[in-house]
This record gives sequence, C-alpha cells and structure tokens, in this order.
Amino acid sequence: MAEFSLPRNSKVQQGKTWPKPQGKNLKDFKIYRWNPDDGQNPHIDTYTVDMDKCGPMVLDALIKIKNEQDPTLTFRRSCREGICGSCAMNIDGTNTLACLKSCDEVKGDVKIYPLPHMPVIKDLVPDLTRFYAQHRSIQPWLITQSPEPQTEWKQYPEDRKKLDGLYECILCACCSTSCPSYWWNGDRYLGPAALLQAYRWLIDSRDEGTGERLDNLEDPFRLYRCHTIMNCAKTCPKGLSPAKAIAEIKKMMVERRV
Ligand code: SF4
Ligand code: SF4
Ligand code: FES
Repeated sequence: MAEFSLPRNSKVQQGKTWPKPQGKNLKDFKIYRWNPDDGQNPHIDTYTVDMDKCGPMVLDALIKIKNEQDPTLTFRRSCREGICGSCAMNIDGTNTLACLKSCDEVKGDVKIYPLPHMPVIKDLVPDLTRFYAQHRSIQPWLITQSPEPQTEWKQYPEDRKKLDGLYECILCACCSTSCPSYWWNGDRYLGPAALLQAYRWLIDSRDEGTGERLDNLEDPFRLYRCHTIMNCAKTCPKGLSPAKAIAEIKKMMVERRV
C-alpha cells in the first residue's frame, strides 16, 4: 500500500514513555493521545509490548496495552475481523484497519494516529458525524415507484453481479480520510466512500430512482471535486476502488445529457 503524507498538528508533542516489560521480542508503539477534558495539547505516548505474549495484529497490541498498561487509551473496535470498519486508523502512514494490519509488516516502531483530517473525540477515535450524514444524503436504500411485490424485489444473478466490488464496503472511512479533495472540501465534496455507495444504488437493477439520484449529485462540489488522485483505491482495506465508481457516475452524467 502506498503511503501519503499526513498533515500533522504542529502542537503534537512527545508524551510519556511507559515502563518497558521484560522480554526478548519487544516492539515500541508510538500512539497519538488527546483528551478533551485534561486541557493538554495532543502528544505521542510510547508503549513497549512483548510480541511473544501478544497476538499478531496491531489491534491485539492496542488491546494488550489498554488491558495491561494504560486503561485510558481509547480506540474503537468490535468485530476484529475486518467486517465492522470501526478500528480504522492511520498506522505507519497508511489508513487501514488495526485488526487486519500485522505488527510484523511495520519495520521499526509502530506509529498510530487517528484517521487524518477528522475532528478527534479522544485519542484514536474520530468524529464521523459528517461522514455518516454524507452517506445518508445519497439515500442508501432502494427507491421504488412500482407496487411493492408480495415477497421480495427480485434480481437476476447477472444484475446482482454488478454490485460486486461495491457491496463489500464497510464504511470504515479509510478512503475518504486519505483523499486530499476531501481534506480540503469535506464540507461540500461527498468523498469517495459516499460516492462509491451512491454508485452502488445507481446501478442496482431494482432501483427506480436513477434520475433523482443523479440530480442530487449534479453539483460542482458533491461529485466533481474528485481529481483522480487515487489515494482512495490504494488505501481501501477491502480492495475496492471508489475512484472507479466515481468515474462511472461521471460517465452516467454525460450519457444522460446526450
Ligand atoms: S480518486 Fe478522487 S476520491 Fe479518490 S482520492 Fe483521488 S480525488 Fe479522492
Ligand atoms: S470504499 Fe473501502 S476504504 Fe472506503 S469506506 Fe468502503 S471499505 Fe472503507
Ligand atoms: S474491529 Fe471490526 S474492522 Fe477491525
């Protein structure tokens, strides 16, 4: 995965170095800490973990640090299987899921920050309120006018196949928070995650809201701030390509004008 430069808060200072445990296979974790209630600037704390007594993933190390060294360390996690998207953070310069990132992949110290360019609630927990509101704005549900079927809305297998590469999105926000256009215009540009979802509903054969959906995206900012920089596709932990989905929406826009 490619790295991209992470704009850093110039006030982030070196913080506490926690006592080292005994062991032969020690690894340092440098972790962003910020508590809105203590009046201090953000800082980087250093924790050392004995990897012979820890699971292989970065999330295992975070849980071990929280359980055994510092219960105040705050981060989100749930499934630990790459399904829920809640453990998304910036590890070693790349947005990814802590539960899928092996500590061995990182040479040297493991540097962990919250997802970039989002307000921070505490430590590694970003405020995703706007991100979810943008997802809601693309109407992530079937829009239909036809009478409700008695059992279910049916779909041919070949139409269902068109959703592959889109339905797998877990809304982790790794892509949107790696996108420079989203960093600078996140209040008006929907960002790669919401746009990938927009495309997922646009090409669903059961959906009857295509015109309404495209009208909603026809805006100089909501869709057209994508400059094909491709960070989104490079960073997606599920291997999806929001950039390709965005290009397809732009194509649909052109086709409906001719
Ligand atoms: S391709 Fe578009 S959406 Fe993806 S990172 Fe670049 S500007 Fe952002
Ligand atoms: S497209 Fe990938 S990186 Fe973006 S929100 Fe979905 S799963 Fe996460
Ligand atoms: S804990 Fe669910 S994706 Fe990592």
